[in-house]
Amino acid sequence: MECRILSIQSHVVRGYVGNKSATFPLQVLGFEVDSINSVQFSNHTGWFCLFRVERNAFPFRAALQISPVNESFLDKSFLEVVVSIIQELKKATPGLVYVCDPVMGDHGLLYVPENLLPVYKNEVVPLADILTPNQFEAEESISVLQVMDLLHEMGPDTVVLTSTDLPSKHGDQFLVALGSQKTSKVFRNPDGTSSSQKICMDIPQVDAVFVGTGDLFAAMLLAWTHHHPKDLKTAFEKTVSVMQHVVKRTFTYANEMAGPGNKPSAAQLELRMIQSKADIENPSVVVEAKVL
Ligand code: ATP
Ligand code: PLP
Ligand code: MG
Ligand code: NA
Ligand code: MG
Repeated sequence: MECRILSIQSHVVRGYVGNKSATFPLQVLGFEVDSINSVQFSNHTGWFCLFRVERNAFPFRAALQISPVNESFLDKSFLEVVVSIIQELKKATPGLVYVCDPVMGDHGLLYVPENLLPVYKNEVVPLADILTPNQFEAEESISVLQVMDLLHEMGPDTVVLTSTDLPSKHGDQFLVALGSQKTSKVFRNPDGTSSSQKICMDIPQVDAVFVGTGDLFAAMLLAWTHHHPKDLKTAFEKTVSVMQHVVKRTFTYANEMAGPGNKPSAAQLELRMIQSKADIENPSVVVEAKVL
């Protein structure tokens, strides 16, 4: 049976990278290779210079225009077109294998626009059957939700990310915390999906840096998961609500002590723990968790 490959990669005039380094070896192995050149460059990025090669549509003459490359060789709209091509091909061709070699960056350096990362993370990687990232690309490919699943697989049944840099739907006055609890003994379903309940919290941010809040959070989560062992939503809501009461009371007190126009000191921002006794004992729920 004929085996056909659609290869969407860079083309270089001189040398071997992208389609130039994929097409020939695959043909040698007997594959039919259809190629789409995502860009046409003079050479690969390891050379001292790099030019984009453009073809002008003059009548009777294809003029080659050579211009230095200052934009990235991959952009968001191109990646989205690739996604829709793969989706259509997968529908039309059962058994189609999609190999994704994500082009993102290396050694801590991003060499594509930042707005490509969520497209990779949310759309491209889930479609891939084979993924070949370098370490940087692997780290960039994983969502915090998947991080929680990986941590489950290492042992813990309950994982809470106490603070993340995820953007909140309510704006930058909120910080996002995430929780995940395994819902059955067998974590992986036969189809590979995880059986866990994922919970999201948008926490109103208070304009100060607190110390000891991480420790208080862990202590309260222990207490409230003890009372609600199979209900992470409730335990999470009570935990975060205690945090809100303590942090807000501390902030108000610290500002009073500092006086108008002054920034509170670290001593003034020590958590008002004893004064928060009633809230710790019986926290009124002031932040609602969302089940994802
Ligand atoms: P660690 O203590 O391990 O470094 P962390 O950095 O996640 O963990 P915090 O940043 O203290 O710990 O966050 C823990 C919780 O404290 C948050 O989920 C939130 O409820 C509360 N918190 C901390 N700082 C603020 C703040 N400025 N405004 C509102 N809530 C805060
Ligand atoms: N240069 C260009 C133009 C490319 O398109 C690529 C990858 O697609 C590279 C360099 C890097 O190739 P590799 O990841 O195989 O080192
Ligand atoms: Mg690569
Ligand atoms: Na923490
Ligand atoms: Mg911290």
